[in-house]
Amino acid sequence: MGLVFAALPRRSRSTMYDFKADAGLEPPELYRQLRNAADALTAGEPDGVANMANVAALLWEFVPNLNWAGFYRMTDAKEGSSELVLGPFVGRPACIRIPLGSGVCGAAAQSGKTQLVEDVLAFPGHIACDSASRSELVVPVMRGGIVIAVIDLDSPEPARFSQEDAEGIEALARTLSDRI
Ligand code: SME
Repeated sequence: MGLVFAALPRRSRSTMYDFKADAGLEPPELYRQLRNAADALTAGEPDGVANMANVAALLWEFVPNLNWAGFYRMTDAKEGSSELVLGPFVGRPACIRIPLGSGVCGAAAQSGKTQLVEDVLAFPGHIACDSASRSELVVPVMRGGIVIAVIDLDSPEPARFSQEDAEGIEALARTLSDRI
């Protein structure tokens, strides 16, 4: 079944949504549909937590073979010491605060660059929130040239994520820049 959101009133916040990816999509089309669904769900909604929560749920629905999908948000810089704090996600309970530069998420937040890790066990400083994780993709969400959050996807499958996955999530991050 295709997406049905186009038929739904965009601004109704009590609507039942039925977002699903078509089966067997190639990554470019899968991420195009995911981004369209995220755009429809977040457009006009000013609450960033609500938007991150719905996008975490969409990631879980659309992207196959994940064990964790969600957000870490950058805290405000206080005395030069920003850190990441856990945001909305789907998966097992996770580490709450991550210093910049620490682990895969901290590396993405510090550098402002996507981290595509084929083998988390070989990544120096990887933070094991869920021992099932074997590969990871972390993409910064930027606003005005500053990292405001990261999108974190974990998989139990080694080398689960490709450059196409990275590009799909980067496009999603651009859509979310002023919505979270
Ligand atoms: N593994 C991450 C920590 C976050 S959890 O995977 C949800 C890291 O090394 O940054």
